[in-house]
Amino acid sequence: MLKGKTILVGITGSVAAYKAVDLIRRLRDAGATVKAIMTDKSKNFITPLSVSLACGAPVAADMFEEPFSHIDGPAQADVFVVAPATANSIGKFAGGIADDLLSTSFLVFRGGFVLAPAMNWRMYEHPVVKKNLASLLSQGAVLVEPQRGTLACGEEGVGKMAGVDAIIEAIIAVVTPKDLSGEHILITAGPTREPIDPVRFFSNRSSGKMGYAFARVARRRGAVVTLVSGPTAISAPEGVDVVRVETASEMYSAVMGRIDTASIAVMTAAVSDFCVAEQRSEKADKADIALLKLDRTPDILAAVGALSRRPFTVGFAAETGARIERAERKLISKGADMIVFNDVLAEGAGFETDTNVVTIITRNADATCQKEYLPLSHKEAVASAIIDSIIARRA
Ligand SMILES: Cc1cc2nc3c(=O)[nH]c(=O)nc-3n(C[C@H](O)[C@H](O)[C@H](O)COP(=O)(O)O)c2cc1C
Repeated sequence: MLKGKTILVGITGSVAAYKAVDLIRRLRDAGATVKAIMTDKSKNFITPLSVSLACGAPVAADMFEEPFSHIDGPAQADVFVVAPATANSIGKFAGGIADDLLSTSFLVFRGGFVLAPAMNWRMYEHPVVKKNLASLLSQGAVLVEPQRGTLACGEEGVGKMAGVDAIIEAIIAVVTPKDLSGEHILITAGPTREPIDPVRFFSNRSSGKMGYAFARVARRRGAVVTLVSGPTAISAPEGVDVVRVETASEMYSAVMGRIDTASIAVMTAAVSDFCVAEQRSEKADKADIALLKLDRTPDILAAVGALSRRPFTVGFAAETGARIERAERKLISKGADMIVFNDVLAEGAGFETDTNVVTIITRNADATCQKEYLPLSHKEAVASAIIDSIIARRA
């Protein structure tokens, strides 16, 4: 998503300055060209040599010297990110002060501007800092909120610079066209857990990666996203409303309670088909295993597909083997608009991988199925291709 983009990274005089090196490396790994500007004070925390090695290019620090000026540096950049951003530099941006290369470049730059503040919690809480930030946000700057934690000064509070993942997510969001604005996408993800007794449950191998990737991509493209998630080890995507559930029946209620406002529903969750008919209140005896009776769980996709006013409905069909005709039948039997088939045993596909190989199945006007094969791709690229296909189908 950052291939071919040029990112200008500003580094200011905060103890978090060393984290900029990781940010720059990760941006380059993602295919971006990175140029860096350091303030004078930042050189007390990190050397220009470390930054230039990370960038693979000399760092700019002085307005009157090479490698680039306050005019051509910003002119070539798609995104300008200041990480870490000190209270001082935030104040200068908000006040229009242009007394060094960084603050002058800010006034020249036209494009997505991202700020990742880092400072002592009392500085961050100060009304002047709040006012300066509010003023920059009202002019379109994107804030990557600092986190609560133990700060470098040893105090506890909000002021720790956001993680590199969150900063990169904000940068990607800035360069992504907002072709889903006005849409509400409801996504399910992960496995469900069906309790047997207070100690045991049965579940499946779904990691939730496909649904979370979908949520991130939909959010970046401007949608309001609700993610109904079974238990996963993945952190909540930025800007997404995450509803955590455990069982299939909880997932059903969470989906049906929110479906009215959704324009698109994407069911990636691996919902358990069975639950224990009578959950034990005490740990079951081993000998009781043969007595366990199973019930069917609610069929969430079919319930959404049967609504009289339903969103564009996408189901996922995880199969073992190339049993695509089962997925085609699912498209019809569940009343879905699209089924995404994947063979979980195929190389690079399946539950715990970051990649997937899928076939998008839709219905033609003459009731035949149309299939679109996608090659092995990262789950975010798969999500993006599915969204493109949804937009094309609805056009
Ligand atoms: C050890 C030390 C750590 C500092 N950490 C921060 C910080 O995290 N955030 C901040 O806003 N200022 C911090 N400061 C103060 C800034 O370095 C100071 O305001 C400076 O003028 C910022 O200049 P700059 O914005 O041009 O880089 C720190 C100062 C010292 C001595």
